[in-house]
Amino acid sequence: MIWTIGPLTLKPPLVLAPMAGCTDLPFRLLCREFGAGLCYSEMINAESLLHHPADHAALLATIPADQPLAIQLYGSDPVLMGEASALLSELPGNIIDINMGCPMQEVLKEGAGAALMNNLPLAKKIMTQVCRESRKPVTVKIRSGWNHETITAPRLARMAEDAGVQALAIHARTRSDGFSGEIDWGLVAEIKKMVAIPVIGNGELKNREEALAMQARTGCDGMMLGRAALGAPWIFSDRINPQPSMAFRIRTLRRHLALIEEQLGEKAELAKIRNHAWKYFRGATSAKSIRGRIEAAQRREDIHTLLNELELRYG
Ligand SMILES: Cc1cc2nc3c(=O)[nH]c(=O)nc-3n(C[C@H](O)[C@H](O)[C@H](O)COP(=O)(O)O)c2cc1C
Repeated sequence: MIWTIGPLTLKPPLVLAPMAGCTDLPFRLLCREFGAGLCYSEMINAESLLHHPADHAALLATIPADQPLAIQLYGSDPVLMGEASALLSELPGNIIDINMGCPMQEVLKEGAGAALMNNLPLAKKIMTQVCRESRKPVTVKIRSGWNHETITAPRLARMAEDAGVQALAIHARTRSDGFSGEIDWGLVAEIKKMVAIPVIGNGELKNREEALAMQARTGCDGMMLGRAALGAPWIFSDRINPQPSMAFRIRTLRRHLALIEEQLGEKAELAKIRNHAWKYFRGATSAKSIRGRIEAAQRREDIHTLLNELELRYG
C-alpha cells in the first residue's frame, strides 16, 4: 500500500524507529533490504550540530540507497531548532523530524524531548520555527503525554498540523511509562481521526502481524518498530518467519557485518558491533554461550571466527 508524507511517496508501511546508538547507516540499509519503508536517524542535538557540525558526521552519514530517511533533531530553543533545520535542509535526508518523546534525564533537563509534551506553548514555537526554516517536510515524534494525568497528545497533534508538520509518529505511552506499560492503541485511533496528516503508530510491536493488527484497529498510516528490529531486521519482511533458523540468523549477521565494513570501515566501534551481534541470538538455543563469546570479543575477527564455527554447527 502506498502512503505519503508531504511530497514523498512511501511504499511499505513499516518504519524503523529512531534509536540512539543503534539506527546508524549500516543497520538502516539492512532493514531496508528486508522491506522497511522509512527509516529514522539517531537523534541529534540541534545546538551541538550548529556549533560542532563535524562531530555529527557519523550520525548524518547516508548514501542514496538510504532513502527515504528522516533525520531527527532534539532541542528546546525554537531559534536553534530552526537554524539546525535550515542547515539540515542543505544536506541529504528527506525529512526533518522533531523529537518530543525522549524520556532521558539529560534531555528532559534541557526542556527537550518528552518535556515538550508538558510544555505545549514551547512545542508549538519549535514546530512553527522548524517548519518555517526547513525546506524539507517536517515530522514530529511524540508520546501520549507527560503522565497519565496529562495526556497532551491530541492537543499537540492538532497544533502540529496547524504549524505545517506533515506527519506525526506517536509512541502511545506517557513519559512516566518510560519503555514499559500498555500501549494506548485507542489514542492512536483518536489522533488518526482528528488530523488529516499521516499518523505512524509506535510501541511494543513485536512483528509484522502485530503491526498490521495495529493498522487495522487504529487506521494508522505507518507502523514504527524499534526494539523488536534490533538483531531481527527480517521482521520488516513478509516472507521470513519471525523466528528464523540459526543458519538464517548467522547469514543476516554476516550481511550486517559486511555493511558495517563497507560503510564505516575502521571507524566502526567494536562495542557497537558487539551490541548489535549479541541481539541476533535472542531466544536461540545456546544463546548464553554464544553471547558470552561475543561479549569477550576483542577484535572483529573474533566475531567472524565465532560465526565460522556456528556455520559448521548449524549449516
Ligand atoms: C536504545 C534506544 C534508543 C532510542 N533512541 C531514540 C531516539 O534517538 N529518538 C527517539 O525519538 N526515540 C528513541 N527511542 C524510542 C524508540 O524510537 C521507540 O519509540 C520506542 O523504543 C518504542 O518502540 P518499540 O517498543 O518498538 O521499541 C529509543 C529507544 C531505544 C530502545
